[in-house]
Amino acid sequence: MAAFTIRRLLRHEEFRACERLQQTVWGSLSVSSELMLVTQKYGGLVLGALAEGELVGFLYAFLARRGGRLIHWSHMMAVAPAYRGRGLGFRMKRAHRRWALEHGLRSIGWTFDPLQSRNAALNLRRLGARVEEYVVDCYGRFPSALEHGLPSDRWVVEWPIASAAVARRLKEGPPPVGKTLPICVNETALNRAGLLENRRLYLHHHAPRLWVEIPPDTEAMRLRDLALAQRWRLETRRIFQHYLASGYKVKDFISTQGDARRQCFYLLERARPTLRRPA
Ligand SMILES: CC(C)(COP(=O)(O)OP(=O)(O)OC[C@H]1O[C@@H](n2cnc3c(N)ncnc32)[C@H](O)[C@@H]1OP(=O)(O)O)[C@@H](O)C(=O)NCCC(=O)NCCS
Repeated sequence: MAAFTIRRLLRHEEFRACERLQQTVWGSLSVSSELMLVTQKYGGLVLGALAEGELVGFLYAFLARRGGRLIHWSHMMAVAPAYRGRGLGFRMKRAHRRWALEHGLRSIGWTFDPLQSRNAALNLRRLGARVEEYVVDCYGRFPSALEHGLPSDRWVVEWPIASAAVARRLKEGPPPVGKTLPICVNETALNRAGLLENRRLYLHHHAPRLWVEIPPDTEAMRLRDLALAQRWRLETRRIFQHYLASGYKVKDFISTQGDARRQCFYLLERARPTLRRPA
């Protein structure tokens, strides 16, 4: 089995290997090797995951200001398809956190597609990042092979890297999934092609905790049935916008692997009303 090294990239050839990996993953180039080089020199971070000297993953982040605070913004992370699911994404994020803490930063932000279950599992459950907002068509119709021309809706997350909660999450792993099942706000079923689809959406619930199911493999769905993938985008947009506006927050992401299939759920929790002290 290949041993992996995670380290800052420094050489021109290494940045060019990141360009090639962008082409492989997104089918287009977003951050050029020149930009990576200057970002690396002046306050940003470009990390690579290498297997026997070959670049199989990278992370690109720059200094940013959000809500008046200086943070790091992790604009891109990719792992070559053959190397996914081996913890490289997790290790690059952990290395980023270590570097950012050493450089006086307390938070890292990024965006991800709410329908990409792998990203949700890594970002919310494994790392303990917090969802801050839902942005409709965040990047417009940009040339990404992952998007297939669909609206690029995104969660914006922040990862409070200096917090005790994040340190505990990294040390102890995610908390166990509670035994009581929350109410699911979308009734789903597999269609004839074996793809998950929504049968009904329920936008009237008030329970403290709710579940939203999403497909376990959005990439495959986009390749096989783009119209259904488009429906998922619009239906989950409606669900998330409705419940976020009603005072719910995204608390967690759960993925269960049964014998037959994987199921993936966001857990929404209603924020408790704050008690006013008597004057
Ligand atoms: C997102 C990405 C970088 C993750 O890299 P990775 O090395 O596969 O990530 P890891 O292996 O560390 O973590 C993946 C997690 O998802 C879980 N997972 C795998 N398949 C899954 C699925 N279909 N649904 C839900 N979770 C899944 C894994 O079990 C793992 O969780 P665990 O560590 O608790 O077991 C990689 O999938 C990728 O390059 N995607 C395309 C580009 C992209 O979306 N980049 C991010 C936005 S810029």
